[in-house]
Amino acid sequence: MIDNKTLEPKIAETVAKLNSLFGAAPAVAVVLGSGWAGAVSHVQEAKHLAYTELSAFPQPKVEGHVNEIVVGKIGEQAVVMLRGRAHTYESGDCTGMAGALRSLKRWGVQVVIQTNASGSLRAHTPPGSLMLIADHINAPQRSPLIGEAGSERFVDMSTAYDLELRQHAKKIAQAQNLMLGEGTYCWAVGPQFETPAEIRMFAAWGADAVGMSTVPETILARHAGLRVMGLALMTNMAAGLSAEALTHALTLQQAQASGERASSFLAAVISSLAKLESLKA
Ligand code: HPA
Repeated sequence: MIDNKTLEPKIAETVAKLNSLFGAAPAVAVVLGSGWAGAVSHVQEAKHLAYTELSAFPQPKVEGHVNEIVVGKIGEQAVVMLRGRAHTYESGDCTGMAGALRSLKRWGVQVVIQTNASGSLRAHTPPGSLMLIADHINAPQRSPLIGEAGSERFVDMSTAYDLELRQHAKKIAQAQNLMLGEGTYCWAVGPQFETPAEIRMFAAWGADAVGMSTVPETILARHAGLRVMGLALMTNMAAGLSAEALTHALTLQQAQASGERASSFLAAVISSLAKLESLKA
C-alpha cells in the first residue's frame, strides 16, 4: 500500500530538484527494461542523475540495471530515461514506481514509454521480435492502488495503451521496414519463471507475451494521468514452448543480442514524437 503521507514530501522534493537541475520537463519519459539500455547512447546533451539523488525514486538492485535518470534530447524531442525500475518480485510490493511516476507527472511529463524483456507465447514472434503492447492481463490481480482514496482510483483501463501513440509506433516501424507485432502482455510476479501449464493458461486467455514488470507501472501511470506506450522485446520462448531451459543469463544474453535494433527503433519513435500535435505544450 502506498504511504502517501511519507511519499508526498518526497515527491515535492524530487520535483523541486528536477526543476532546478533540468528546468522544464521533457514531454516524454522512458522506462528502460532489459535490452533497451542502448537507447541512452542516442540521447544528445545527456545529463545523468542517480536515483539516490531523487528521494521519491526507487533503489532497485537487479543485475543489469543502472539506477539513474538520463535527461536530454533525441532529435527535437526532449526526453528523460529511467534506467532501473523496482520489480514486485524484489519485495512483494507492487507500488515501487509510484513516487517516480507521480514525480514525472508533476514535473510536466506527458507520456511514459515502458520497455521490457518478455517471454513469447507465439511462434510468429520468436526471440528477438519486438511487440507493441496493445493491452495487458494482470494475472495476479494485484493493484498498486489498493488503499488509495478518491474516485480517481477507479481507473479506466480500456485504452490503457494509448491508441494515438500505438499508431505512431506502427508508422515508424513501417517506415523502417521493421516487423513490429502488436499484442497482449501478461504480468507474472516472478521471480521464478512460469510453468508450462501457466503459459498454456495465459495463451488460452489471449496473452502473447509474459513478463515480470510493466503492468503495475501502467496502472500507476494511468492513475497519475500519464499517457502510456509499451514495447516488449522477446528474449525467449515462454516455458514449455522450446526445449531450452529458462535462465536469467539466457534472457540477458538475448536482450543484449537484440538490444541495438530495439534501441535504435525506440530512439526513432521518440525522435518523431516531436511531430505529434497532441504533445505540444
Ligand atoms: N517469463 C517472465 N519474464 C520474462 C521472461 C519469461 O519467459 N523472459 C523475459 N522476462
